[in-house]
Amino acid sequence: MFEHVDAYPGDPILTLNENFQKDPRSRKVNLSIGIYFDADGQIPVMHAVRDAEAALKIGAKPYLPMVGMDAYRDGVQSLVFGADHPARAAGRIATVQTLGGSGALKVGADFIRRYFPNAQVWLSDPSWENHRFIFERAGFTVNTYPYYDAATGGLKFDVMLASIDALPKGSVVLLHACCHNPTGVDLDEAQWQKLIDVLETRELLPFVDMAYQGFGAGLDSDAFAVREIARRGLPAFIANSFSKNFSLYGERVGGLSVVCEDADAAARVLGQLASAVRSNYSSPPLHGAQIVAAVLSSPALRRQWEEELASMCRRIARMRQTIHDGLRDHVQGEALTRYVKQRGMFTYTGLTEPQVAALRDEHGVYVLRSGRMCVAGLNDSNVGIVADAIAAVLKSGV
Ligand code: LMR
Repeated sequence: MFEHVDAYPGDPILTLNENFQKDPRSRKVNLSIGIYFDADGQIPVMHAVRDAEAALKIGAKPYLPMVGMDAYRDGVQSLVFGADHPARAAGRIATVQTLGGSGALKVGADFIRRYFPNAQVWLSDPSWENHRFIFERAGFTVNTYPYYDAATGGLKFDVMLASIDALPKGSVVLLHACCHNPTGVDLDEAQWQKLIDVLETRELLPFVDMAYQGFGAGLDSDAFAVREIARRGLPAFIANSFSKNFSLYGERVGGLSVVCEDADAAARVLGQLASAVRSNYSSPPLHGAQIVAAVLSSPALRRQWEEELASMCRRIARMRQTIHDGLRDHVQGEALTRYVKQRGMFTYTGLTEPQVAALRDEHGVYVLRSGRMCVAGLNDSNVGIVADAIAAVLKSGV
């Protein structure tokens, strides 16, 4: 019966993370998956989350509505767009609670596939590996547009813009709002404005993935592109996630917001998003949404959460500087400065596949095959080990 089922080669991120857990070496370092670990190498439970969770009344566990919990959906919208955004006031944003950011991408992909069956999808080169899997499985042809410049560790903005400017009307353009995964290279605000001009003129459909809000230049600045796209009246899909900024990975807390031309369209879109949820997994889970809604709706908890998030970012910045300094004698030019210049949880190290394999096999240091390093996994105890391991691998000439 199952002879034609081929073996799963594994996921480039999740399987590597699982392999790390099985690695018996005690000096191993996990810089593979996009998880923020604290100074002690633990996944933190944020105080705001702990306090909100402690105050939850344990009671009945009903199904949530297909679109999710109202207070949570309102929290998503006000964090993503800003509480006073005109698109919100006009009721032209349809928001559903989703199973993390991946769930938002899948629900959005199913919706687009159904209503725009001829559209193709365009991802940055490179992009988060799962973007391609999600959109291909939803039935799309997936293409790429130029993005990362390996020679400079920066952005090929002009080439990117020209390529997007040549896409057929109605193409879906997947964009990263901030802290680009895997490269850590973002557009600045002037570049976003130029890109939004092109999206508007060419009548393209932006699908913005915002999984790292708060890890770049701050909660509001990181949402610049999303808010500007909505302000200028472009239809758009926004996937957001609280996995990282609330440290709630396993609770699967995310949201999908569709910016529409008016409230009537938003109501119809919301209904069809509910239908997409129903046909995927019926309705979203309760617990994580209760926590996020409680934090975002309480001024005191929200302030505490923002302070904790800011201190996580400061620790990442310090680790970026420390690894940069540790590699100063071994790596030169852009290959070195990218450790401090790239933003968010990731640095695209430029290490080759054989170098990545040597780092893992000989030194117990795990980064992705693409060379992506999660700098949020560095701490004072392991950063020296990592710098020495990279230096040794580079010296070995692998
Ligand atoms: C990552 O990119 O490592 C994270 O977003 C985790 C994942 O699901 O891939």
